[in-house]
Amino acid sequence: MYVRPMATDVERVHHPLFARLYMRTATAAEDAYRGELLAGLSGTVIEVGAGHGLNFAFYPETVERVVAVEPESVLRAAAVEAAAKASVEVDVVEGVASRLPVADGSFDAGVASLVLCSVADQSQALAELRRAIRPGGELRFYEHVVSHGAVARGLQRLADATFWPRVAGGCHLTRDTLSAIERAGFAIQSSRRFGFSPGPPVPAIPHVLGIARRP
Ligand SMILES: C[S@@+](CC[C@H](N)C(=O)[O-])C[C@H]1O[C@@H](n2cnc3c(N)ncnc32)[C@H](O)[C@@H]1O
Repeated sequence: MYVRPMATDVERVHHPLFARLYMRTATAAEDAYRGELLAGLSGTVIEVGAGHGLNFAFYPETVERVVAVEPESVLRAAAVEAAAKASVEVDVVEGVASRLPVADGSFDAGVASLVLCSVADQSQALAELRRAIRPGGELRFYEHVVSHGAVARGLQRLADATFWPRVAGGCHLTRDTLSAIERAGFAIQSSRRFGFSPGPPVPAIPHVLGIARRP
């Protein structure tokens, strides 16, 4: 299932300062969303951009095995520690979303949580998830997305064009990820949109959480 990538295949994702900041600030307020994201999953799962493994504790025991792909070395090392404490089998591997180191159709499900905002090429990342997930399998997603409001969207665009991707590990605030999932050939099965703020002074940012199916 796991195909070790050639060193030359791996685009460089190196954000050690962001990685340490994220590990300190990622909030338990999101735990309920992580639980909802992963509820009911079973079989084999590929999680892309798994970070330091905040989702691992929420995989139900019906999951046989998780391959957690993480390119950033600081986060990956922490993910290995989190995997050792998880109640399901989690193998943490090096890799990038645009070139997943796995065979075609080898997973029952894929998971993308707060990562499709950060990948360099979102459509390629989604094409790779589609390739890795078997026909009929599902993609679980939990992502922040572009605002519907003109003023908020303008501020998001300004942040994306200036400081935000630099301080937030390549993150972008203006991605229309739900549409991108559909464009990648997934059928949206369920999706809900809500605002979430990790706390003041950060305003509520729109998020989508749901399930898409690979036809
Ligand atoms: C905000 S963190 C989210 C981490 C984790 N998914 C979570 O829910 O806590 C963004 C993650 O995307 C990862 N990432 C960035 N570029 C990536 C890429 N090209 N391929 C895979 N993961 C990537 C980062 O290393 C980081 O782990």
